[in-house]
Amino acid sequence: MHTELETAVLLNQAPQTKLFNSKQPLQDKLVYTRSVKQVIKEKLEAMSTQKWELDQENAFFVGDLGEVYRQHLRWKSLLPRIEPFFAVKSNPDPMVVKLLASLGIGFDCASKSEIQQVLSVGVEPSRIIYANPCKQASFIRFAAQHNVARMTFDNAEELFKIKKLYPDAELILRILTDDSKSLCQLGLKFGAPLDTINNLLQTAKDLNLNVVGVSFHVGSGCLDENAFADAVVRARWAFDQGEALGFKFNILDIGGGFPSGNVTEGITFEKIAAIVGPAIDAMFPSNIRVIAEPGRYYVASAFTVCTHVIGRRTVTNEENETQYMYYVNDGMYGSFNCILFDHQQVQPKVLSRDGNLMFDEMKEDERTFTSSIWGPTCDSIDCLSKEAKLPALDNGDWIYWENMGAYTICAASKFNGFKQSEVIYTNTFE
Ligand SMILES: Cc1ncc(COP(=O)(O)O)c(C=O)c1O
Repeated sequence: MHTELETAVLLNQAPQTKLFNSKQPLQDKLVYTRSVKQVIKEKLEAMSTQKWELDQENAFFVGDLGEVYRQHLRWKSLLPRIEPFFAVKSNPDPMVVKLLASLGIGFDCASKSEIQQVLSVGVEPSRIIYANPCKQASFIRFAAQHNVARMTFDNAEELFKIKKLYPDAELILRILTDDSKSLCQLGLKFGAPLDTINNLLQTAKDLNLNVVGVSFHVGSGCLDENAFADAVVRARWAFDQGEALGFKFNILDIGGGFPSGNVTEGITFEKIAAIVGPAIDAMFPSNIRVIAEPGRYYVASAFTVCTHVIGRRTVTNEENETQYMYYVNDGMYGSFNCILFDHQQVQPKVLSRDGNLMFDEMKEDERTFTSSIWGPTCDSIDCLSKEAKLPALDNGDWIYWENMGAYTICAASKFNGFKQSEVIYTNTFE
């Protein structure tokens, strides 16, 4: 007898679950209602019954839409005043976008194609912010044609461009904040320094442009909750400059930088919320609309990737100890580009050995070996983990990696002819 997943794989058909009574149907992909582990188990079992199939043993993701929804509920309960606009760039997965669209939240888009994707699932243009301070002219024209009016800027040249292409746009001034404690320091590229703000706003006024508010981004992977409080103070200062020049600002956008759902120590979402919520309430009256652009927060903990050990090399170190080099079938040029671009430290866990599912469980006296894990390409930069302590694995075993939902699949290339890992969906929300 086939499991449901097996049937789905074999016959390309299976029952689908409807998530959260969404207005937008989520039905173009199969969504299971099992635990992530159960889905992985069934996928591996289905593979073992299909050994005759040529396209087997590919790395795959399990995306848990229920985890995305839990993160949404967590946001709503801890930062009720602040409206999330999901940063599509972090994971434009079609099911994630559909789910979040059905929940009624907004979207932060960085390009024409992100705007197109979001509009195509029925999101109204007013629920989009085009949050890229330097935009291609044709993309601005596209935004104008589709009434995506809200967009950011941080320099005078952008204002001249917008004046020509979309003079009625609702502009949001992106200011520079202290991102020195963030893993990705976006301030190197974007954000108007405070001492340029007056001139910039004066230019906008001279051009008769409609500046409606202020935004900032403390940097992605922010490791200091006080960076948010400091940025709110700067934003208040920028509001005051705008008001002094006669603008009627009505929106504050506090950007992204919120941690992944699995972070329970150090800088947690709870800590940030406890600082940023009261700071905003103290400095911005309730008629000011407050939005944010969380990306990683929504998706990182919702995706697990499973990789197959396609090669093993045994080496001996200077102390004559046995070590292993494992080669797996997704890597730095694929989903693990997050190591390079997003400064992530990924954590390998043993999924199966010799056909037996482990899910990271080891016997107490299990011998471990210093192991390095490499992606499948011919490039030596393609190293995922330099010194993991793992039990001895062999070709055909599986390694899984949790918290792989942000800045992974979306930036994966097909370098060396390897295709991007597919996503299987489940919903663990009960
Ligand atoms: C303008 C903007 N908003 C939001 C985000 C999302 O940031 P995070 O994933 O840290 O929440 C980014 C990330 O680069 C960004 O550039």
